[in-house]
Amino acid sequence: MLPTKYSTALVISVAFVLSSCLNEDKLPECAEFVKLDNTLLALTIEADNLDVPWDLQYDRHRDAIVFSEIAGKIKRLNLETGQIDTLLSLPDVYHMRTLGLLGMAIYQPENSQNYLFLSYTSMSNDSIYSNLVRYDYDEQPTNPQVLLKIPGSTGHNGSRIIISNDQKVLWATGDAASETYAQDSTALNGKILRLNLDGSIPYDNPLANSFVYAWGFRNMQGLTQSPDGKIYTSEHGDAIEDEINWIRPLHNYGWPQIEGMHDTDKEIAIATNSPRTEPIRSWTPVVAPAGLAYYGSDKIPEWSSSLLLTTLKSQSIRILKLSDNGTEIVGEQILFPDYLGRIRSILAVPNGDVYFSTSNKDWNPQSGFPKNGDDIIFRLRPTKKAFKLPITPVEPETKALKNGKELYQAYCASCHKDNGKGVPSSFPPLSGSAVVTGSEDGLLRTILYGSTSKKTNGSQFNEAMPSFSFLSNEEIASIATYIRINFENNAGPISNDRVRSNR
Ligand code: HEC
Repeated sequence: MLPTKYSTALVISVAFVLSSCLNEDKLPECAEFVKLDNTLLALTIEADNLDVPWDLQYDRHRDAIVFSEIAGKIKRLNLETGQIDTLLSLPDVYHMRTLGLLGMAIYQPENSQNYLFLSYTSMSNDSIYSNLVRYDYDEQPTNPQVLLKIPGSTGHNGSRIIISNDQKVLWATGDAASETYAQDSTALNGKILRLNLDGSIPYDNPLANSFVYAWGFRNMQGLTQSPDGKIYTSEHGDAIEDEINWIRPLHNYGWPQIEGMHDTDKEIAIATNSPRTEPIRSWTPVVAPAGLAYYGSDKIPEWSSSLLLTTLKSQSIRILKLSDNGTEIVGEQILFPDYLGRIRSILAVPNGDVYFSTSNKDWNPQSGFPKNGDDIIFRLRPTKKAFKLPITPVEPETKALKNGKELYQAYCASCHKDNGKGVPSSFPPLSGSAVVTGSEDGLLRTILYGSTSKKTNGSQFNEAMPSFSFLSNEEIASIATYIRINFENNAGPISNDRVRSNR
């Protein structure tokens, strides 16, 4: 972490930037600076007051960024003038919490029809669906064609889209919170699907007459491809093991039988019986990975041949350095931890500049956000001179989490919040919870085994509480004690033995 005075400086100046600097190239007053080993970057604001921009794409014919906003709008930001035009307001988007207008892709060949591909949730006859829709993309998007419509759910709807180097549509779908879809090769959820541009099945797909290209996924939030054709995804784990995967045809990535690395006896046994592919990076505690962009330019040489990943829970950009052959992640640096809030989407444009967007007005804002001006599209580009103290990326910390408070913040606070107040209709408060202050065994079983769709004080929560049985008895006892003593709960501590007897 950087000393707090820098983070305060940034927060203050971001607020200042918002009032006077939008789209102005006034570097001294209007930028923050980032110092890499040999390159200095300027961070500027290109658009503000947006409503959860979920995906950013580059329109190379207009030097513009086309972006989706989760409630159902497609907008275009002219990078020269800063003008934003609304291209589409989709009437059939079903937006609630994580659901809505999500991933998109632009296909812009020189001399034939350009297309815009969108992925969004809709509701009909009380059922939720995820739709892959193609628009003709001329000055305005027209002529929508639904290419695929698959089951959706109140969570885990993915999704991202890319057009691959070989001109296919790749759609990363969520498992729709189903326990069976991801491992069912005939279901289209929890998969990377591969389609021709017209929605038909490519003749060279790995399974004949099937869209399925790779399987065994939970909820992918990032998808990108390197110039040599390697496909990478980012994916949300459950309570542990968020992942980066290198996608290969017909590989099975294991969910829900295996989480992340093959590191428990049960997982090793499953992977020995039938091949399963490990992620190339996993994170516990989770970071909530989101947008992913391959950076191939040498304009920012330190980042060349890296994956740029945005994160929601850990509120940062991660620079994931790839090995020369692109099959491993050999370095990680963290930029802007906890400065700008949740970061959702990232785009490397052909001239080597990087754009990314915040997601502070979404369903699960972190404390202190949204700020005035959220949500924002930022730009990073090389510059010659810094007019204030630059920010530097930090290395990931591997420090042991010592006490109940640190463990709570790492494993529980993203949902139940630092102050234990939860999020209405998504995550129950732990402050004043009878489960927390009541029977020790009841509380420990909730933490060890998770819980779903229980009614608490008459309210139903739409998300699930994952199992934390991977934590040690000591760690669970510390967390349980912390939440019983704090948040005005005033209940007694819990012993390691009590945890052991509930396993
Ligand atoms: C991914 C989000 C998430 C995380 C992380 C999470 N929880 Fe929960 N938790 C929930 C949800 C959702 C519920 C309600 C489950 C239900 O409806 O049955 C819940 C319920 C609970 C309850 C019962 C509350 C009541 O009054 O009914 C307790 C206690 C609890 N969680 C403790 C914890 C602890 C301790 C941690 C960290 C080790 C944790 N949770 C991490 C989502 C989460």
